[in-house]
Amino acid sequence: MMYSSTFFLATLPYLALALPSPENQFTKRDSILIPKSCFDSTSSLAEYFNYNYPWGDTHNGAAIMKSSNAVIKTAGTLTLEAVYTGASDYAWDSGTVYAKQHFTVTKSGGLDFTADFIAPVAKGTWPAFWLNGVNSWPPEVDIAEWMGTGDISFNTFNTSSAVEALNVKYPSPTEFHTVLAELRDENGSDVKVNFYLDGTLVTTQYAKGLVGQPLELIIDLQMEGSSGSPGPTGTTLYEIKNLEVVSKNP
Ligand SMILES: *[C@@H]1O[C@H](CO)[C@@H](O)[C@H](O)[C@H]1NC(C)=O
Ligand SMILES: *[C@@H]1O[C@H](CO)[C@@H](O)[C@H](O)[C@H]1NC(C)=O
Repeated sequence: MMYSSTFFLATLPYLALALPSPENQFTKRDSILIPKSCFDSTSSLAEYFNYNYPWGDTHNGAAIMKSSNAVIKTAGTLTLEAVYTGASDYAWDSGTVYAKQHFTVTKSGGLDFTADFIAPVAKGTWPAFWLNGVNSWPPEVDIAEWMGTGDISFNTFNTSSAVEALNVKYPSPTEFHTVLAELRDENGSDVKVNFYLDGTLVTTQYAKGLVGQPLELIIDLQMEGSSGSPGPTGTTLYEIKNLEVVSKNP
């Protein structure tokens, strides 16, 4: 990364002569697709993310998303804020962002998605950090989802009914916890997903045919829907920091 392309162009022929198997010497490097600085300011947020969902401002719940409810209050932290309005169609104003880039696990490749979260777990609050197919649904991989029970959920969809889902107890929800999903090409077609919570591998799931499928990354604070009802009146916060997306694709 530190060398200029001129260095490589000038040096490559000599290395190739010196080394019996040059392709093994040039192991690929990780490339950072979204850097940890993405929530440093409103302008860095806007560099990597759009407001709301890729398809609009609502999704399977009782919140309507507004850009005013997805804010950088403290440098480094994105705050999604659900505010009860009592409106009849959508009783909460809330916040959602999605990455401007699409993400694809290519053959022999992979992607890492990580962030630290303070996520609400009360009944009727439904924060999530998830991947959705660009061209169809599914694919869906829920890197982390909290469905109003006190648990955190890790899920992979092959079809709308073939879903691998795991709920585990989510400790001390008012503190930050680190989630990491490692997606890797398993056999040129399926993708293996390792889900980590606070550095511990919690589960491994497989997504059928996910290699080569472009994905959207969504961070939303939906209300009610799959998290039950009634949701809390007043204001609910979902905070995210240190988000990073790294490509391991060749
Ligand atoms: C990958 O493995 C799955 C079973 O896990 C199998 O159905 C599929 O045919 C395999 N694909 C390739 C390209 O080997
Ligand atoms: C999804 O497909 C993968 C790969 O074929 C398989 O290993 C996994 O068990 C499937 N999941 C479900 C819930 O059927």
